[in-house]
Amino acid sequence: MTQMVPIDSIAGEAVEQLLDRAFGRDRHARTAYRLRAGTHAIAALSFALVDGESLLGSIQCWPVQFDGDDGSVRPLVLVGPVAIVPERQQEGLGRRLMEAALAAAAGGPPLVLIGDPEYYGRFFGFDAAATAQWRLPGPVERHRLLARGANLPALPGVLGPRRHASAAA
Ligand SMILES: CC(C)(COP(=O)(O)OP(=O)(O)OC[C@H]1O[C@@H](n2cnc3c(N)ncnc32)[C@H](O)[C@@H]1OP(=O)(O)O)[C@@H](O)C(=O)NCCC(=O)NCCS
Repeated sequence: MTQMVPIDSIAGEAVEQLLDRAFGRDRHARTAYRLRAGTHAIAALSFALVDGESLLGSIQCWPVQFDGDDGSVRPLVLVGPVAIVPERQQEGLGRRLMEAALAAAAGGPPLVLIGDPEYYGRFFGFDAAATAQWRLPGPVERHRLLARGANLPALPGVLGPRRHASAAA
């Protein structure tokens, strides 16, 4: 039986192996990793799915911030990576992880992720409408820079790691 648990209850090495399988070992060079550099995953928004001793999937969320060119500073939450072991994909497990993170994040800062709009738009209401003028610390395909939440800063500015980030959402 699959069970949702806090990701902190899983050995970090097991999560890293899962992510290597889902994304490849070169994943650390991705812009999403630069966005969260120096921060720690937000424990209350990060989950794993297990079946007994087997790790089936994980989701992690990170504290980031948007520095608007108008001087405004907005906290946001970077969602991802979301990963399901290849042999258990297409069973609804990814959706369970996303829904758990979205529920836990409700009422907090807006959410941002880099991912397929065909998945995150269709099922979870993310879109690229607000992000067109956001600058990131690395390359990004604009249509894959997706956000969700009230009062998103739809203006020019820089997205990066949250300064003085704590473990709180
Ligand atoms: C993407 C991922 C997390 C989805 O989890 P999952 O458990 O396989 O997906 P679910 O069972 O919850 O959802 C399945 C549905 O999503 C769709 N879907 C899955 N990945 C998709 C993608 N990249 N683009 C569009 N649709 C996608 C499926 O077609 C299916 O739709 P259907 O119900 O109409 O058949 C998982 O496949 C995975 O780990 N992939 C490799 C890593 C990755 O790409 N992560 C996401 C980027 S952060």
